Amino acid sequence: MHINKKVIDQICILMIDRQDALNAMNPDILRELDQAIKTCISDQNIGVIILTGAGDKAFIAGADIKVMQDLDVKGAVNFAKLGQEVTMTIEDSPKPIIAAVNGFALGGGCEIAIACHLRFASDNAFFAQPEVKLGLIPGWGGTQRLPRIIGKGNATELIIGGHMINAQEAFRIGLANKVFEQDKLMEETKNFANTILGNGPDSIAESLRCINESAGHSLIDGLNLEVEAFSKRFGTDETNEGLDAFVEKREANFRN
Ligand code: CAA
Repeated sequence: MHINKKVIDQICILMIDRQDALNAMNPDILRELDQAIKTCISDQNIGVIILTGAGDKAFIAGADIKVMQDLDVKGAVNFAKLGQEVTMTIEDSPKPIIAAVNGFALGGGCEIAIACHLRFASDNAFFAQPEVKLGLIPGWGGTQRLPRIIGKGNATELIIGGHMINAQEAFRIGLANKVFEQDKLMEETKNFANTILGNGPDSIAESLRCINESAGHSLIDGLNLEVEAFSKRFGTDETNEGLDAFVEKREANFRN
């Protein structure tokens, strides 16, 4: 078992723990992570998921390079599809998943981070898509998600340069949402998770769905999708509670 799970007050922390390989992901750990996230999604007591790496050096140092040494083309298709399946489970989660990037987020580690809905980084974090240094290209969604998050120019620079950038540079180009001192990362990430927990869970899920869909649609189709999702909120208990609470000058109570 390489995923530690801790749930406190509706926040689930999933910690990848394979420190002797800087939390590099092999097929077993990918499957374990996929299952752990699916279990969180179906658990009524969890509202936000935080994904992080064990130790103070790495979030995830990428796909396991020693595993890749033995792959043929068919094996590589399966490995890429498995990693992509996990990143889709993350991205499609109706519950927000925040990557608390506590060190190296390289290759597949960066790809897992960019599948998360938010990335909060510690000041010792480094990001890279170094696959070209290995004679490879990103295989778990980097060529597709990175341009959508940081723009084509920045993504191209990172992917064909293969170089590492630090947390401040990641923040500057929009790869990291926020940067915190290393020993404040989890506390600050939990603080934001608590902010999210004050908001309507179905509204959050619908917002995430519409944001995700924005990539695959024309503006007009995306706007129509938004109208549909927006209008369907009306008449629900959650929306009634949110609107009533504002008018009655009280805190909304969405989760009890
Ligand atoms: N796969 C397997 N093992 C890894 C690994 C990885 N991605 N990254 C680090 N490790 C292992 C090292 O082999 C080493 O193990 P041993 O002690 O058994 O030799 C251990 O972790 C510690 O690593 P280092 O001694 O190298 O630590 P360092 O502090 O000197 O360097 C580092 C840290 C810069 C992150 C360096 O380990 C490194 O460059 N790692 C590889 C990063 C990388 O290229 N990742 C992308 C992989 S390709 C990919 O992910 C494809 C994809 O898109 C899916």
